Amino acid sequence: MRISVLTIFPEMFEAINHSILGRAMGKGLITLDLIDIREFADNKHSNVDDYPFGGGSGMVMMAQPIVDAFSYAQSLHKGKPRRIYMSPRGRVFDQGTACKLASEDMIILCGHYEGVDQRALDLCIDEEISIGDYVLTGGELAAMVVIDAVSRYVGGVLGSSDSLNEESFSSGLLEYPQYTRPADFRGIKVPEVLLSGHHANIEKWRHEESVKITQKMRPDLLK
Ligand code: ADE
Repeated sequence: MRISVLTIFPEMFEAINHSILGRAMGKGLITLDLIDIREFADNKHSNVDDYPFGGGSGMVMMAQPIVDAFSYAQSLHKGKPRRIYMSPRGRVFDQGTACKLASEDMIILCGHYEGVDQRALDLCIDEEISIGDYVLTGGELAAMVVIDAVSRYVGGVLGSSDSLNEESFSSGLLEYPQYTRPADFRGIKVPEVLLSGHHANIEKWRHEESVKITQKMRPDLLK
C-alpha cells in the first residue's frame, strides 16, 4: 500500500517509524511518502498561508502549494488513490472505515491554521475524515492515527501473534482483561479459570468479561 502525506511538518511523522509500522515499512508492505507542502510554494518566501478574505482570525492555507503538491503526490501513484483531508468537520473515523481504507492507496492532506482554501479542497479531495469531536492544532496527529489503524489491515503487517479478529470493536464488544506471568503479583491473583487449561470455560469467561466491560464503559456499542 502506498500512502502519501502532504504536510508542513514532515518531521512529525518520525513518530510512526517504530514498532509494527516501522517493520511494515521496512518490509515494503507500506510505502509512506512525506511531501513538504512548503517546497511547492511559488512565492519567494515559501509562504503557504495568507489572511482570510472577509476577515476573521487566523490564517488560511493557500490553494497553490497544496494543489501543486497534490499533482506531485498523484505522480507517485499508479492508480487513483483515495484523497483525504484530515479535518474536524469530516466523517468520524472508526474501525469499519479503517478496514475499508486498507484496500486503497491514499493521499492525505494535513491542514493547519484556520483551514485550507476551499478551492484546493474542491479540486483535490474525495473525503474529509475527523478522528473525533475535538480540534487539534493540525492534521498530522490525526493522519498518524488513521495510518496506524489502517495499516493493521494490510496483509502481512500484523504478525500471527497480533490478532485482528478477537479484539475490541471487530466483534462489537470491548476486549476482555488480559494477564501474563506471574500468576500472583504482589498478592493479586490471576482469575483461576485462566490457569485451568479448560478452553471452553476460558472462552466463556472472556466473553462474559467483554460484555461486562462493554456494558460499563460503552453501553452504546451493545445497542
Ligand atoms: N485537524 C484538527 N482537528 C482534527 C480532528 N479532530 N480530526 C482530524 N483532523 C483534525
